[in-house]
Amino acid sequence: MPHITIDSFDTSKIVSGDYGETKLLFIAQDFFSEDEMLGVKIGEDTFLLQIKKSDAYWLLKHDKLTRPLDVNLVKQAIWDISIAFDLKVLNSNININRLQASLANAYEKGIEDFIDIEFPFESVSIEVGFGSGKHLIYQAQNSPTRLFIGIEIHTPSAQQVLRQVELLGIENIWVVNYDARLLLEMLPSNFMHRIYVHFPVPWDKKPQRRVISKSFLEESMRVLKKGGQLELRTDSHNYFWYALDTFLGEGISKTAIEIRKNEALEITSKYEARWLRQEKDIYDVYVTSASKSKPRILDFNFSFNNIKYEEKLLKQLPWKAVIFDDCFVHFERVYRVSQSSILLKLAFGSFDRPEHKYIHMDKNGTDYFSSMPVKTLTNHKAHLKIEEFLNV
Ligand SMILES: C[S@@+](CC[C@H](N)C(=O)[O-])C[C@H]1O[C@@H](n2cnc3c(N)ncnc32)[C@H](O)[C@@H]1O
Repeated sequence: MPHITIDSFDTSKIVSGDYGETKLLFIAQDFFSEDEMLGVKIGEDTFLLQIKKSDAYWLLKHDKLTRPLDVNLVKQAIWDISIAFDLKVLNSNININRLQASLANAYEKGIEDFIDIEFPFESVSIEVGFGSGKHLIYQAQNSPTRLFIGIEIHTPSAQQVLRQVELLGIENIWVVNYDARLLLEMLPSNFMHRIYVHFPVPWDKKPQRRVISKSFLEESMRVLKKGGQLELRTDSHNYFWYALDTFLGEGISKTAIEIRKNEALEITSKYEARWLRQEKDIYDVYVTSASKSKPRILDFNFSFNNIKYEEKLLKQLPWKAVIFDDCFVHFERVYRVSQSSILLKLAFGSFDRPEHKYIHMDKNGTDYFSSMPVKTLTNHKAHLKIEEFLNV
């Protein structure tokens, strides 16, 4: 990821304004360390850059939570800031490539794009955790009239596949760099043709991080059209039995499952090739959506009603996770933007799929920075609790 190492400098000389292609919105001081945050905007993308300070040198780098998928925007912002404030650069891995930037945007979708989404294809399939993208690209090339939405939580994999999609000129792939478990909850009902989950991470020691769960199954059945299939392919004996147990388990009233062992597919992914070399068994589980589901209406409101920053807030906020029946809220860090304005970093929502966000507060109001939470019922419950905490 792009970053520069720089000499220490007087950060009070950083003032908001337009610098090259970058609009600098604010600079904020971490309450608990010497580090600082820069709020920046390029075009429609708003994100944060971090100044991490050590005795030997400082780092100017991206912030993981708000990082745009187009890595060139981060490079551009770091570049513009370093030129504008005449920073002494000791080391840099920045090499701005405009061509990549202009191509990347067409196939990239953000979580917020799915709020009122319209699909330009009649048939849509999803691949969860596409990794190297071999299967995703193969499917898209073989079914050019179907849209393939690839959801991948690992940013470098998402970026790499975006580049391949562009180079190959494939027009029926969207890449979403997000947690598939959350994105699924935002998709309309009865629409998808197939959901592929190939070689998910087994997470034997942290099962709460697994993609497959009862709620993932329920959401998959909802978004699939009647007759559509969820397709799990795994080399993990444990995961196979865990998935079967989940698909047949308590609370699942009706299900249609087909199981295959060591079935050869037309395309072998990078992971599969490795398991095949080791002569491991491979299991497929197909779950068919047997009925029509109710429409999903996303009408949760994530705005903060007339909440303004008050200095006493920081003394009253809990700095440890607060657990409620079905959600939690954890205020993790605070950054001071000015005497009358702060940036809060927090985690909240469901225990197995927490949201991580920033909230910006000043004397005029309060907003999520730089994007809204995913519109799920649990996130909304947590949002109402956050609103209560901030309303002092
Ligand atoms: C073992 S790799 C398999 C990659 C690919 N499907 C294949 O067969 O080669 C699992 C992939 O799932 C991704 N992943 C894990 N959890 C995810 C989640 N919640 N949402 C989206 N992707 C996820 C990981 O980043 C990783 O790329």
